[in-house]
Amino acid sequence: MDRVELLKQQAGIEACKYVTNGMKVGLGTGSTVKYTVIELGRRIAEEGLEIVGVPTSLATEKLATKVGITLVELSDCDNLDIVIDGADEFDSEFNLIKGGGAALLREKIVAQESLSMVVVADERKMVETLGAFPLPIEITPFSHQATIRQLTKLLDCRVNCRMAGDNPVVTDNGNYIADAHCGPKITDPVNLEIEILKIAGVVQVGLFNNMCDVVVLAKDSGVEIKNNPNGRIPN
Ligand code: 5RP
Repeated sequence: MDRVELLKQQAGIEACKYVTNGMKVGLGTGSTVKYTVIELGRRIAEEGLEIVGVPTSLATEKLATKVGITLVELSDCDNLDIVIDGADEFDSEFNLIKGGGAALLREKIVAQESLSMVVVADERKMVETLGAFPLPIEITPFSHQATIRQLTKLLDCRVNCRMAGDNPVVTDNGNYIADAHCGPKITDPVNLEIEILKIAGVVQVGLFNNMCDVVVLAKDSGVEIKNNPNGRIPN
């Protein structure tokens, strides 16, 4: 396993310490939180951990089923205790860019239903100012080029429709993803989220503001727990 993969595994496994018996757990999407899902499956099998999970993507649903996590519908739950998910970037205010894996809409719905959010990341994801990672925005296929024009005007930067070969990437919800190359200058993500969501054709934006309580950050020197001082998980 290479260095980055090892860091992802360390963060993914360490985050499982926040999961205890009886919890309803949101299961994020991506190559880091994959290790969380696998570890939760191990604890269920080997330690008798009793939890139910809500996946944030079809890929996570498949993995969670494979490792033996009982899945439930979010609509049937009265809040989730916790969601554990990855991030493409996080800043010192614990605001996030997510959606690199095109799962941002379900991830945000699950995060908004969760009483706490733990992010698993390696140190490459920590930034001073959000935006070096192209900001993912889920948009409707209908008139998507017109929506992209609106986004370009608002953001004053290059905005691409994410492609898989010759065709747009299609999300689990049947939508497309626009990637906005803002550059590392998103100094007011709260306001930017509001402005982007005003555009008709935008389904959701991958800015997750004021949602993350803890970042489990894997570094070469070890795993650091970064607690959001304004978060919902006590130190
Ligand atoms: C998917 C996401 C992921 O959580 C994000 O892209 C981080 O993924 P990874 O752990 O693979 O770097 O937002 O939509």
